[in-house]
Amino acid sequence: MRTKIVAGNWKMNLNVVESQLLIGELMDALSTFETQAKIIVAPSFVNLPILAVATENTTITLAAQNVHHKEKGAYTGEVSADMLSSLGIDHVIIGHSERRAYYNDTDTVLKEKVSKALEYNMNIIFCVGEQLEDRKTEKHFDVIKKQLEIALFALDAYAYNFITIAYEPVWAIGTGETASPEQAQEMHAYIRSLIAKKHSASLAEDVSILYGGSVKPANAEELFSKPDVDGGLIGGAALKAADFTAIIKAI
Ligand code: PGA
Repeated sequence: MRTKIVAGNWKMNLNVVESQLLIGELMDALSTFETQAKIIVAPSFVNLPILAVATENTTITLAAQNVHHKEKGAYTGEVSADMLSSLGIDHVIIGHSERRAYYNDTDTVLKEKVSKALEYNMNIIFCVGEQLEDRKTEKHFDVIKKQLEIALFALDAYAYNFITIAYEPVWAIGTGETASPEQAQEMHAYIRSLIAKKHSASLAEDVSILYGGSVKPANAEELFSKPDVDGGLIGGAALKAADFTAIIKAI
């Protein structure tokens, strides 16, 4: 069964006090309505321990924004899957375009991150997305195919139980520019067809594919109305409880 998901990526925003405030506001807002969506929040590593306590026995699932691909060792400043796991964190975003662009998260490294996270039974939101130039030159399908092929396509069918894909065109992230619902649907259907070809149509049907890139209350409903858009990965709008809540209500 495909799950509807709304995930908030807080990126490098909010200190410990601010993050507790926002999670409190979010919990208050969520207590006022019912949703079929799974709600995920990805704060920074430092905020995870305190938010893990705050969100215990709530409908909010916490995710890390990144994980290291090695088990442990001399990797100053990094955080391992084992460390996250020991905190009870079993969701992680891998391959966000900011990680790819600024921290040398290449497709090959991302493949290793995926397998390390899977070793720890972590649920993965795996991000793919093309640059504006790729779209202008009509290479966007090829780019997405390559990103998926390298990092995910060697996985066995069982591993897909732990995989959610987020399609985030880089030109739409934090820019205010959103892919049109038709563009999102077209790419999501393409991604699903690739998984169907690689594995089976029924497996592909069960994979949740989120859209990310300037999702806001004003455009969420239209995006989510598309048959292959199973929710969103939200950046900026996840930092305001009212906006994030409105997006959840749009699903
Ligand atoms: P945005 O970010 O919603 O601020 O565009 C989305 C993301 O980076 O996941």
